Amino acid sequence: MIDPQLPLVDIHRHLDGNIRPETIWDLATRHNIALPAKDLDELRPLCQIQDKTADLLAFLSRLDYGISVLADTDACYRIAYENMQDAKRAGLDYVELRFSPFYMAQSHQLNIADVVEATIAGCADGSRDFAIKHNLIGILSRTFGTDACTRELNGLLARKDHITALDLAGDELGYPAPLFTEHFKQARDAGWQITVHAGEADGPQSIWNAIELLGASRIGHCVAAKDDDRLLEYLVEHNIGVESCPTSNYQTATVVDTANHPMKGFLEAGVEVTLNTDDPGVSAIDIGDEYQVARDVIQLSDEQLRQIQINGVNQSFISATEKQQLF
Ligand code: ADE
Ligand code: ZN
Repeated sequence: MIDPQLPLVDIHRHLDGNIRPETIWDLATRHNIALPAKDLDELRPLCQIQDKTADLLAFLSRLDYGISVLADTDACYRIAYENMQDAKRAGLDYVELRFSPFYMAQSHQLNIADVVEATIAGCADGSRDFAIKHNLIGILSRTFGTDACTRELNGLLARKDHITALDLAGDELGYPAPLFTEHFKQARDAGWQITVHAGEADGPQSIWNAIELLGASRIGHCVAAKDDDRLLEYLVEHNIGVESCPTSNYQTATVVDTANHPMKGFLEAGVEVTLNTDDPGVSAIDIGDEYQVARDVIQLSDEQLRQIQINGVNQSFISATEKQQLF
């Protein structure tokens, strides 16, 4: 299913959507933070989704438990470090971890730049200790509005050499891409690559906007491209990568059932589709589960699965030499 001869990567994985329930419980205990559960067993079903939720916003609210225990920058360092260990345990050779420092800072009013600093340090130490290659993608959480995103962008730009790309995540319907053109111009001027969550909660125009207004070279989810043939052709022609996350798409009610996930059609149209986890801690899955779903439920062939592993490397935000080194 996963070809061990090929590199395994996950390029759409939220660090702040992958906080271990044990860590949430431990941090809450240490910092005396109230959780709506009397023990870890009661907490698990709250912070891990077993079936689908009503919509994207209902899904995203499940990330709040983990965020609520980030009482200081040591906690941010810890979850970053543990994310690298989790990535190694999942069998990944390379991971792009994304994080929203404004969101992480928000519950306990931490300084955004300090959160960025602690996250970079936790990932760097984890990368060294667990021998796994990584890069960091900064997120602007659109849900908090444009001013919050300006502060978030500034916190990320303060360590711009440690960040590879900028993403826009959160409430796609409520906060469309045209609000953020200036933020993304600054990001491109800083030399960052661009990936944007689009076509998850909104339609094909949101994907066009991500590409044409924000400069995205990869699209997170991109499910709505199934409704726009011209867009599919454009994705192929311009080698724009699609970051598919099928379990997440089911849980956010973006797709009605996983069997009809459009990624198979995208692959057959020649789109460079990649396979990823999104929020593995919250979805209670990891990359191996997604390959299993892709084979057994979405019915991808072994050849298509191998192509997806190669696409993941091709679309990674690393140099051609670094890509070669993964093989
Ligand atoms: N943040 C974490 N997961 C997300 C998703 N699936 N869509 C938008 N924002 C997110
Ligand atoms: Zn995502």
